[in-house]
Amino acid sequence: MNNREQWGSRIGFILAASGSAVGLGNIWKYPHMAGENGGAAFTVIYLICILIVGLPIVIAEFVIGRKTQLSPVGAFKALAPNTNWKFVGVLGVCAAFVILSFYGVVGGWTLRYTMLSLFGGFVKFSGNPELAGGQFKSFISNPINPVFWQIIFMTLTTMVIVKGVKGGIEKWAKIMMPAILVILGVLMFRGLTLPNGTKALEFLFLPKFEDLTASSIVLALGHAFFTLSLGMGTMITYGSYLSRDQNLLTSALWVILLDTVIAIMAGVAIFATVFALGANPDSGPGLIFVALPTIFPQIAGGTLWGALFFFLLFMAALTSAISILEVITAYFIDEKDWSREKATVTFGSFVTIVGIFCSMSMGGFNDFNTIFNISFFDFLDYLSSKYMLPIGGMLTALFILMKWGVDDFIRELVTGMENKNIDPFVVKVLFIISALVVGFIISNEIIAIITGNPIVG
Ligand code: PFF
Repeated sequence: MNNREQWGSRIGFILAASGSAVGLGNIWKYPHMAGENGGAAFTVIYLICILIVGLPIVIAEFVIGRKTQLSPVGAFKALAPNTNWKFVGVLGVCAAFVILSFYGVVGGWTLRYTMLSLFGGFVKFSGNPELAGGQFKSFISNPINPVFWQIIFMTLTTMVIVKGVKGGIEKWAKIMMPAILVILGVLMFRGLTLPNGTKALEFLFLPKFEDLTASSIVLALGHAFFTLSLGMGTMITYGSYLSRDQNLLTSALWVILLDTVIAIMAGVAIFATVFALGANPDSGPGLIFVALPTIFPQIAGGTLWGALFFFLLFMAALTSAISILEVITAYFIDEKDWSREKATVTFGSFVTIVGIFCSMSMGGFNDFNTIFNISFFDFLDYLSSKYMLPIGGMLTALFILMKWGVDDFIRELVTGMENKNIDPFVVKVLFIISALVVGFIISNEIIAIITGNPIVG
């Protein structure tokens, strides 16, 4: 396809791909997971997972996308015509619908908390987690308020995508990613200079392996997929807008480096503040929306720091949401010949409507809390991060091993690289390990559901 849109620059592509990776997973999920699972010990396992499972699959997705210049469904069809492999792409598009539905809801929360902090709304929460927790619960379970913010968030996402790859996604990634790094750097410095703030470094970097349980290992593995946006064709889609002269190995390393550095910086900034004020590091998912609003008012300039923090979280969520909606948009452009405007507006609205049900399931309309006894919101979160993404990632590794072939894969990978000596044996072993590891986590989950007793965890 000659008229396919392309990235304007290598840095633009790297920032867009890392913008997809850096999101709520880094700033909201990683710190509370580390807080609850032994701090540094969890971080070590997470880093190992990123390198062993994450890196090969990021590269695989970039290579498949660039080779075919197509989004996931078309890409698998082009490399394996008349086979069922296209369903790996279909699974990816479905995962995009599922993730964006609940991601947009939390994106809305970040906007509302930015405003709340900016207008001094955190002051009354100072040192009072009960009040902050109560307010958070009553906000998210309100049938109208969070939906209003979610609609704004989804409208912004749609407006960026309508402008296309270079004029929308790349342009905004180039603005928001550096802003995220700078704000996080300032917040980290602010946290570390508070009395006791450096305790955070010990907590995140001094491993105590006795705190690590088998289930935290499984958790770290699952999170590696979510945080790197793997297993649903996002990186295939972004790779499909690349020209042949780019080094995909170094690009993948950049994305992984930025994703990891930002997760760890967020961890340091958050825990430094938590330790300085003597709050609890293992307060779980409420760490950000409940614990932090009680802490910010206690430090000098807290209103501003709080607003900056939530604005940072909003930008991180936005660059990720953009990449999720682009998977859906690209499918309808490539496979159904829709215009970008029609695809984006139709599915941006569709996902927003499904998201409204998600938001309602937080208490606004309890009848939704009937699927497997968890809320519709949690159901979509589990379905995607525990099953759809790991399964998609595993099938991508198996596709290269069993169908496309490691030699053809390497031929595309080395295009654009100076050093063309890549050992097919090493590549095979890496993909076999990733597929096995993921296969194991998924079987473990399924066995746990059926028998109530996981093999590990
Ligand atoms: N990587 C994003 C995060 O860490 O928040 C979430 C995500 C984005 C998952 C895009 C999947 C995806 F395709």
